[in-house]
Amino acid sequence: MTTSTDTLAASEPTLSSDEVRALNAKHHTGNYGRSPLVIVRGEGMYLWDADGNRYLDFVAGISVANLGHCPPRPTAAAKRQLETLWHASNLYHTVPQARLAEWLTQHSFADRVFFSNSGAEANEAALKLARKRSNDVHGPGRFEVITATNSFHGRTFATLTATGQEKVHAGFEPLVPGFTYVPFGDLEAVALAITPRTCAILIEPIQGEGGVNVPPTGYLRGLRQLADDAGLTLIFDEVQSGLGRAGALWAYERFDVTPDVMTLAKSLGSGLPIGAMLATEGVAQHLTKGSHGSTFGGNPVACAAALATCETLVEEKLPERARTLETTLGEGLRALAAEHDAIREVRGMGLIWGMDLTVDAAPVVDACRERGVLVNAVQGRTLRFLPPLIVSEAEITSMLATLDAAFTALGL
Ligand SMILES: Cc1ncc(COP(=O)(O)O)c(C=O)c1O
Repeated sequence: MTTSTDTLAASEPTLSSDEVRALNAKHHTGNYGRSPLVIVRGEGMYLWDADGNRYLDFVAGISVANLGHCPPRPTAAAKRQLETLWHASNLYHTVPQARLAEWLTQHSFADRVFFSNSGAEANEAALKLARKRSNDVHGPGRFEVITATNSFHGRTFATLTATGQEKVHAGFEPLVPGFTYVPFGDLEAVALAITPRTCAILIEPIQGEGGVNVPPTGYLRGLRQLADDAGLTLIFDEVQSGLGRAGALWAYERFDVTPDVMTLAKSLGSGLPIGAMLATEGVAQHLTKGSHGSTFGGNPVACAAALATCETLVEEKLPERARTLETTLGEGLRALAAEHDAIREVRGMGLIWGMDLTVDAAPVVDACRERGVLVNAVQGRTLRFLPPLIVSEAEITSMLATLDAAFTALGL
């Protein structure tokens, strides 16, 4: 029997990889520098291209597929929700949104949640909340936010301004007023940057796009102290580091400190777009009725997938798994550093690792891809490793062997 889905699939024109690339080259805005791969399918640790080649994935959609590709429970939850209710808007209550908010508050420092569609939007909400709180408590004039150099917080105007990287700002001036940048990891610099106009500190517990930078011991706790002393809102951007990636459900647990506000996105929906801003009761109360909103934020399908993602993460102890595998991946990368002169430094935690090279990292990314392994590069010379948290020891060994072969083949 032919179902309507079969008929649709059969009638869909098949495009070759060249045709897909040509369509994108012709019709898409030119802002992405893409690899030539045309990805058509994903399952667990693997992706397949349109030519039938299989790739071991150490990118995970940039820390999105923490449960692997097409994870069974979120897939089933999203399918069920698709057949029940796609959208209702925030004019009404929906069940998946209520349950996800409950789960997130029960499993974190936070008391309240605002849902967005992306990491940038979650950070926008956090920045608005910090300014609103400051206005409510102190009146106008205390609106400045301290962020770190090499940070990444998104591409909207406020979040690109918060991002401490000139290349992200270039050409978009004038930027949003009220942001001050300090070197990541330098507590003294933060203390010196605080003025009577400061309202918040926004920081990634582990910098991702900035090259996988792990803060020195005591840095985040020091920020907590500075924020408390000056009455500032401490915001942790856990869009990349959260949800098990750092070897704990939240990266802040690894540093024994809690923020006032935390932002999430990426792996929250296992690939369906959803972000969240979490806050303590005392801070969240300033986001009063009518002060913020989003049409799609907390969409029922994304929330159903996200709740299944969160429950699976905890039930299958994937944060603990990331913590255990931290040694395997970290030591494996360090062993390669001893073999290859082009490797300058290896840094990381849990299953987020960076490898600084003395040369451009792009040829290594290409050489790995040609050998069936996906890794990516940030900041030009840093390789980044973000496998799904379901990765096995054998898959880590296999990636390391491929990386070794790639370095050797390139004479590095
Ligand atoms: C730490 C961090 N914050 C925010 C963002 C922005 O998230 P999105 O691309 O979903 O807007 C990113 C994206 O890479 C990120 O790594």
